[in-house]
Amino acid sequence: MTETTESTATFSPLRWRGATLELLDQTLLPSREEWLTCDTVNEVAAAIYRLSVRGAPAIGVAAAYGLVVGLTPLPSAEQLDERFAEVAELLLSTRPTAVNLRWAIERGREVFAGQRKAGPAAVREALLSWAKRVHTDDIETNRRMGEHGAQLFGDPQRLLTHCNAGALATAGIGTAIGVISAAFSRGGVAMVWVDETRPLLQGARLTSWELQRLGIPFKLVTDSSVGALMSRGLVDGVVVGSDRIATNGDIANKIGTYTVAVLADRHQVPFYVAAPLSTIDRQTPTGADIPIEERDASEVTDVFGTRIAPAGIEAFNLAFDVTPAELIAGIITEEGVLRPPYGESIRRAFARAEG
Ligand code: MRU
Repeated sequence: MTETTESTATFSPLRWRGATLELLDQTLLPSREEWLTCDTVNEVAAAIYRLSVRGAPAIGVAAAYGLVVGLTPLPSAEQLDERFAEVAELLLSTRPTAVNLRWAIERGREVFAGQRKAGPAAVREALLSWAKRVHTDDIETNRRMGEHGAQLFGDPQRLLTHCNAGALATAGIGTAIGVISAAFSRGGVAMVWVDETRPLLQGARLTSWELQRLGIPFKLVTDSSVGALMSRGLVDGVVVGSDRIATNGDIANKIGTYTVAVLADRHQVPFYVAAPLSTIDRQTPTGADIPIEERDASEVTDVFGTRIAPAGIEAFNLAFDVTPAELIAGIITEEGVLRPPYGESIRRAFARAEG
């Protein structure tokens, strides 16, 4: 019988089948729903790099399975250490900002260290059951974030979100979209404003795809509409995800998030971030310490393979920006909604989680 691990969410971006990782290829959505089969770690790494699988928590789960795929076929006992180190380094090199990637690789290293004396087969088996736990834990974490976040929105609100922080970006119902859909099912959401999210259009392509399936009313807007919407009083709150949170509460998220936060501050619109504790990097004290991924200029000069800028020009493609803690009304985690001062509330949340 084929062994399968799948999410219970309406749709999920990844599943484990037999000995391979299958990924819903998000570069093709919404026009095509095709699954990629990753039999080698090079395929997993390439899929993460080109955003076939994306969103910090989903990248973490894919990397956890990637460690297992990297040990298939099994290396000899003599090759085991070197092979594992190569696989871990390759996966780590794919996306520098999303800390869930490093979080998964560091925990995978601990599993490896605990089993390496028992030999390659035992290591691989231990990594697989750990990766499945990372997968199912993310589903439960998303559910708990949704429960906590939904309580923020009593009356039906018009919420704005940026990029895609939904089921496609996680193993469960999503972070920001998980909160929005939990709030919607309790009557707390009237509609959602969806930023299209240049340059790769995660909002237009992915968040629209998800909200349509969830039956949540929404309108797609250009990124540059946010100020006009807020100045007309059309936005009651903002909920976004994050790729890395520093211990002082500064957050990195998709480029354009900072602009939304500044506008929200100007218009007294509460700005919330939804993210699991695995996105909080206890080795990163402030936003200035977060490495920001720079991607190929062609993502800006071209739109889906069609050149829109003149030949020979330069472009600068920062994939993320940093929003300072002072602009954030609350960070919604599986341990509750954290409030400023974040240094203190983050410490307490970890203490609760670690019992
Ligand atoms: O470049 P992407 O598409 O991986 O960026 C994703 C985001 O910025 C998300 O908001 C973030 O990862 C949180 S996902 C739950």
